[in-house]
Amino acid sequence: MDDLKSLLQKLEGGRGADMEFKEIKNFFAVTRNLFEVLKEIRKMTDFRPEIGVVLGSGLGGLIDEVEIVEAIPYTAIKSFPRSTVDGHKGEYIFGYLEEKPVVLMSGRVHYYEGYSMEQVVMPVRIMALLGAETILLTNAAGGVNKSFKPGTLMCINDHISSFVPSPLIGPNDVLGERFPDMSSIYNKDLTKKLHECAEKLGIDLKDGVYLQTSGPNYETPAEVRMYSMLGADAVGMSTACEAMALNHMKIKVAGISCITNMATGISDKPLSHEEVKETADRVGKEFRELVKTFISKL
Ligand code: HPA
Repeated sequence: MDDLKSLLQKLEGGRGADMEFKEIKNFFAVTRNLFEVLKEIRKMTDFRPEIGVVLGSGLGGLIDEVEIVEAIPYTAIKSFPRSTVDGHKGEYIFGYLEEKPVVLMSGRVHYYEGYSMEQVVMPVRIMALLGAETILLTNAAGGVNKSFKPGTLMCINDHISSFVPSPLIGPNDVLGERFPDMSSIYNKDLTKKLHECAEKLGIDLKDGVYLQTSGPNYETPAEVRMYSMLGADAVGMSTACEAMALNHMKIKVAGISCITNMATGISDKPLSHEEVKETADRVGKEFRELVKTFISKL
């Protein structure tokens, strides 16, 4: 990360000539896209966020609480993946939440939309490169743990990503180590803080393991039974890959899943994206309060 920051400074400061040839070759092979996107955004805003938040399906209501300085639609950024899912608007929001400089991703892109894992994690890498040192990832997820109910909020304390490709495949050593440790992806201090905030607000925040599938289909009952045996508490189609890419860059990560429905087979209702959005809307207020209080304590 420090390497990348210093490389960016050299380039941003127009001192690329000081770089060793090997450094430049590596830099461009790996981060050309990131650097181009960063340059595009810097043409539109010089805002330096300290905290990043990714808003999951239907959880975009938090934006109403932000004192907005700049909103940049993904479509305004060249070579940026577009969000194609209903409930995911697709813009970066820069501004102040609880007086803290933040960048929010209103909508993310997913592997099932046809993007490579490298493209999927690019927007969160950009948040880190823009300055965010702490990033909160949120999502809508299906409840695998039978003690959960639709509307439960779960603090992600670990994940299983073995069913999707790693976002770290390919050359990326200027961003972080080749074989990065993943023993505590979700920062323990942040997790503790989330629980303290929830307690203060009277929210029964659960803890659990999130499992990422590729989607776009929901799971079969047999798959959900298998995920439960493997130790998953919630299942969804995002987040774990982003958390890994950020952990690789040594960014502090926290995660919250909004359990919008019980996963297939646990309830006998067929799943629909409508139900996911309806539940996310219903718990939106609790979710907003939790995130706001959490950010005020950072
Ligand atoms: N499965 C996968 N992803 C989801 C679900 C689910 O049940 N609910 C919301 N996102």
